[in-house]
Amino acid sequence: MLVHVKKIIGDAEKHGYAVGAFNVNNLEAVQAVLRAAEKLKSPVIIQTTEGAIKYAGLNELFAIVKAAAAEVRVPVALHLDHGHDFDLIKKCVQIGYSSVMIDGSALPYKENVAITRRVIKYAHANKVFVQAELGRLQGLEDWLKTGTKQAFLTEPDEAKRFVTETKVDAFAVAIGNYHGVEKVLKNKPLKLDLKRLEKIDKLVKAPLVLHGASGFPAGQLKRAIKTGVRVINIDSDLRIAFVQAEKKFLRENTNEYDPRHVLAPATEAMEKMVESKMRIFGSVGKF
Ligand code: G3H
Ligand code: 13P
Ligand code: ZN
Repeated sequence: MLVHVKKIIGDAEKHGYAVGAFNVNNLEAVQAVLRAAEKLKSPVIIQTTEGAIKYAGLNELFAIVKAAAAEVRVPVALHLDHGHDFDLIKKCVQIGYSSVMIDGSALPYKENVAITRRVIKYAHANKVFVQAELGRLQGLEDWLKTGTKQAFLTEPDEAKRFVTETKVDAFAVAIGNYHGVEKVLKNKPLKLDLKRLEKIDKLVKAPLVLHGASGFPAGQLKRAIKTGVRVINIDSDLRIAFVQAEKKFLRENTNEYDPRHVLAPATEAMEKMVESKMRIFGSVGKF
């Protein structure tokens, strides 16, 4: 059932767990996420980046998510992840996303506040939630590669000021979290600054979002949830599960030419990965 993200995050706040926000680009990913959610009775957020929309089309992705969500009992919300283009954000609001992210994290503070406010004015007039970010994550998004030098962590006092000045509905933090498949595949040392998170949580009332959470050990994620994180973004671990399963299947089944048979094991591997994240996040059985 497609619902407003407000309901999903509100329930997570009330009961102290986190909801997974899983990136999708196609029908198979939507199936993987919703099968896992339905099986584990877990609320879930499905998110598309601008890159996903460029790949699959906004109308097409929205139609797939809406139709698939109507087939399950669990609450499903649709979110635009890492929005930069105001025109595309408007299109997402108009078509029926209940939540959008404006990612001004690469901008100077004042410009980040200004663009975030502009998006909030438009989105709130249409009853849509807005997520924004202060601080910059390391790693790769489709448009920007942030190296160690440009990455910086969220300052708690500045976070308070930012959330007060923008009135953002959900706040994404940079506390050592890290985008991209590289950190997972190369086994990079991953460490969240939980003291910093604690300070941010004390000063900021908006629900906290953790991007770049693939590859982080379960223990660290659980402590982050105890410290106030209510949404956790996962993309890379799903990509890796899908592609590794696909490669294995193709190596072992060189005579298979039915795309449905070729995609099935990869979709299943993605589904299992979503399940394992939901177990860590504590959202299982919350519907
Ligand atoms: O941070 C978000 C995603 O991992 C980047 O995905 O290639 O669809 O932009 P993308
Ligand atoms: P990962 O690259 O760690 O999966 O992060 C995904 C993300 O933050 C999407 O917004
Ligand atoms: Zn992200």
